[in-house]
Amino acid sequence: MTDALQNLWTAYEAAAATGGALCARGGDPDRWTAEEWAAGGVSIDTRTLKPGDIFVALRDARDGHEFLKNAFEAGATAALVAHAPEDAPEGAPLLVVGDTLEGLRDLALAARTRNFGKRIAVTGSAGKTSTKEILRAVLGAAGSVHAADKSFNNHWGVPLTLARLPMRADFGVFEIGMNHPGEITPLTGLVRPHAAIVTTVAAAHLEFFSSLEEIAEAKAEIFTGLAPGGVAVLPRDNDFFELLKTRAGEAGAASFVSFGETDGADFQLLEYAAEGAGARLKVKIKGEIRAFSVGVPGRHQALNMLAALAAADAVGAPLGPAIDTLADIAPAEGRGARTSFPVYGGEATLIDESYNANPASMAAAIGLLGASAPAPGGRRIAVLGEMLELGPQAPALHANLSKALVAARVDRVYAAGQLMRHLWDALPPQMRGLYAGDAVGLVGPVCDAVAAGDIVMVKGSNASKVSAVARALKDSVKKDED
Ligand SMILES: Nc1ncnc2c1ncn2[C@@H]1O[C@H](COP(=O)(O)OP(=O)(O)OP(=O)(O)O)[C@@H](O)[C@H]1O
Ligand SMILES: [Mg+2]
Repeated sequence: MTDALQNLWTAYEAAAATGGALCARGGDPDRWTAEEWAAGGVSIDTRTLKPGDIFVALRDARDGHEFLKNAFEAGATAALVAHAPEDAPEGAPLLVVGDTLEGLRDLALAARTRNFGKRIAVTGSAGKTSTKEILRAVLGAAGSVHAADKSFNNHWGVPLTLARLPMRADFGVFEIGMNHPGEITPLTGLVRPHAAIVTTVAAAHLEFFSSLEEIAEAKAEIFTGLAPGGVAVLPRDNDFFELLKTRAGEAGAASFVSFGETDGADFQLLEYAAEGAGARLKVKIKGEIRAFSVGVPGRHQALNMLAALAAADAVGAPLGPAIDTLADIAPAEGRGARTSFPVYGGEATLIDESYNANPASMAAAIGLLGASAPAPGGRRIAVLGEMLELGPQAPALHANLSKALVAARVDRVYAAGQLMRHLWDALPPQMRGLYAGDAVGLVGPVCDAVAAGDIVMVKGSNASKVSAVARALKDSVKKDED
């Protein structure tokens, strides 16, 4: 490949895209000199910046302009700035624009326009990152795929991911999230997806919405950005399927494709069975029955896979090779990964779901624990932190988990945080392991309580810090190996 193709942005391309001024700070503060450069990537964070990146000085929690020196020390090729601070290193190439977030969006738009691949956007109350990672795998069988390594789904994460889209990528996958109505519209308008997926609509961020229907309306915004001829990928089992379909039609979707367990879904899950660390699926895809093994467990993940296959098919990726990749995928960190760890007299299994939680993903994770059989003599143990951002319904949503835990034949529940008190009080007494005010209080008792053959599932919102329990259990693996 020539340098021109390896470089993501040359100085002049970036200047043309943003309308910014190329300059560098000389010895004389009033003198500016244009510099020519070529960057291999785009970064907004000096801690993860790679040598050769353009550093975009965003004003967010902190002002990125304060970190220009660090950025160049870390090897930045140039910086996109709104002004040159006094401590901007001398001679460091700058691209000065009126507003750096606007500048990042301009780069994103230019990256999209010069790429002739297909773009897929994913939103939903849960499963966005999981589906993005599944898409990375299934599309990889058909061409080169660009997707963010992290859950970059907000007002800067989406433009950042798009600004990094290589000119020659065959596919781009974009996770789009929201906390408020109206947030998805500008992001999907920037991405202009050829296929847009809504994974599910469920209670999440209820604090900012008065009803689930409002959440569905907000998710449906994703269809407003569809490119001409674009396909809407819809969750057939969801209460808001019809609403989503109507909104997709109004937004100009050229066609619809559905996934789910409900009869009539175009990509239908017929049977799910746990198999090793993953699962075996029987599905009906556009009338044809297929059975195959997948590397990630959970009925919810199987549905994410069907959503991904539907979208991949919609953008022209052949299904056979796409399905073949599913055997080799692994759960993303904190989203169902399994680890065995030594305990007195044998081994126990951790299902790490600690990345985040809302009622939909909590129900899915409890289902996953229910579908996993402990070794002889072992128990199903749920370690639960609070689900946050649920507004006034939060206590009831926590108490309600009791039914799912009973249905999943969970033996012991360890719960932390004020809201989990509502679950604790609702639990049948024989299921109560321990309640603690915060997750740290569970670490020691859970580590002590786990016995040979147990399966421990850890789940809670990020801020509940329940991941500390998962970490402690995993650390016991490391200690043993040392
Ligand atoms: N379709 C689904 N339904 C319910 N729960 C799911 C689904 N897919 C994934 N989950 C669970 O939800 C949690 C979060 O998964 P994931 O990171 O994929 O979601 P996300 O939508 O990207 O979340 P975030 O909004 O935090 O970015 C994980 O515990 C995962 O196992
Ligand atoms: Mg995510």
